[in-house]
Amino acid sequence: MPLTQPAIRLLAITTLAPLTVVALTAGLGSAAPATRPATTVPVGVAFFTQRIAPVLKEQCYPCHHADTPVSSYKGGLLLDNLAGMLKGGDSKEPAIVPGHPDKGTLMPAIRYTYKDEGKSKKQNMPPKWGKDHALGGKLPDQTVRDFEEWIRMGAPVPEDFKESKVEGL
Ligand code: HEC
Repeated sequence: MPLTQPAIRLLAITTLAPLTVVALTAGLGSAAPATRPATTVPVGVAFFTQRIAPVLKEQCYPCHHADTPVSSYKGGLLLDNLAGMLKGGDSKEPAIVPGHPDKGTLMPAIRYTYKDEGKSKKQNMPPKWGKDHALGGKLPDQTVRDFEEWIRMGAPVPEDFKESKVEGL
């Protein structure tokens, strides 16, 4: 007897990683037909959208976004698109190297492992900033691990995050 749709779904849910389940159930809740394949949103892209993008937006865009309201983007580094991350900033080193969380300037920065604070292009990120230094400061350990995991996955992103939307950057 062939498996019924719900049975297949149950089977998929019990065997897939938790994140895929989130992507799967999100898909089912939408107007999309139930037959839509569960793999429409790859796991890595879902991981980026759920765990990495909100942190970039809140903690890094104030200084590393082409339209940053604070001032022009800092350190010559744009973190609002993958190309900018691969290119890196003033240090002339890439911020990330997909598949290698031990390379690039971003991981040591968010681990707060740079020692010569204030003297180097390489800084701990995000710095404390804003009125009374109330903003920024070291990210939670789990967030740092999420970045590590995402880079290890090969830094998957949605299509619209791949290139800068600003001409000439
Ligand atoms: C308040 C502003 C501010 C925020 C917020 C901020 N940065 Fe920065 N960032 C800077 C400045 C300024 C520099 C340049 C430091 C220098 O050249 O001395 C920099 C440089 C960097 C560099 C080195 C670039 C290079 O190649 O020289 C990395 C990597 C980086 N930031 C990552 C991040 C990440 C990741 C976040 C968010 C988690 C973040 N930054 C949030 C201001 C900020």
